[in-house]
Amino acid sequence: MRNLNQDTITQAVIERFSHTPDPRLKEIMTSLVQHLHAFAREVRLTEEEWFQGIQFLTDTGHITDDKRQEFILLSDTLGLSMLTVAMNNDKPAGCTESTVFGPFFVESAPEYKNGDDVANGATGLPCQVRGTVKGLDGTPVPNARMNVWQADAEGNYDVQYADLAHAQARGVLHADDQGRFHFKTILAEAYPIPSDGPVGRMLKATANHPWRPAHLHFMIEAPGYQRLITHVFRNRDQYLDSDVVFGVRQSLVADWEQQPDGSYLLEYDFVLNPEK
Ligand code: BEZ
Ligand code: FE
Repeated sequence: MRNLNQDTITQAVIERFSHTPDPRLKEIMTSLVQHLHAFAREVRLTEEEWFQGIQFLTDTGHITDDKRQEFILLSDTLGLSMLTVAMNNDKPAGCTESTVFGPFFVESAPEYKNGDDVANGATGLPCQVRGTVKGLDGTPVPNARMNVWQADAEGNYDVQYADLAHAQARGVLHADDQGRFHFKTILAEAYPIPSDGPVGRMLKATANHPWRPAHLHFMIEAPGYQRLITHVFRNRDQYLDSDVVFGVRQSLVADWEQQPDGSYLLEYDFVLNPEK
């Protein structure tokens, strides 16, 4: 295989991967090469632009560590995360829709009981959240395990504070035997995704803002049901139609009602999809 040129190189690379033993890996590699080459041809990529792309990915790797996941941010802001979620979570009507996971989930968050305050000192206006976890036929799902997490009033998740020793505004709760849950937390507010790295530079260069509309994250697990990863978004937020990571679904938008004492109340029910 010599003297490859711009007309013959794509097929040569595809043939190089044609002996891949795993058929799915072979399919992915073949399609990746085809689309990558087609992209370079379509924009007539210059050598300087190719190198800028390499530099961008290098910077994305360098800023990534166990606290900062710039590759997820890149996937999110290119709409790839939401596309993957949408393709893989086609559920019957009536089920709670899924949205992006985001980079701020933490395994083994503190465990709380129904009624507890998961804020644990996080800044923000007081808020209560309550609802029921149900199946598609409306019957309650007992004892679902619920991870909740959110940003504070400054727009930061606890993991973004280098000197914070304990979890804030996140926790694990269990719905009761009637599927009911309730907990205290802080009011969800809009916040910008981290924009001091290469993804922030990309957003700036393309005249896009880095903001997400106010939301509260949930991951809900119960035996016999598919795991649900979603958020509830705050109605009337100014960024609902321009979420930087394309995650908003109308069925996930809800009112946080202000109460006479100034605190807020979110009531939201979740409908899980039975496992196949
Ligand atoms: C989040 O909602 O936590 C999030 C999602 C995508 C990118 C950055 C943050
Ligand atoms: Fe978030």
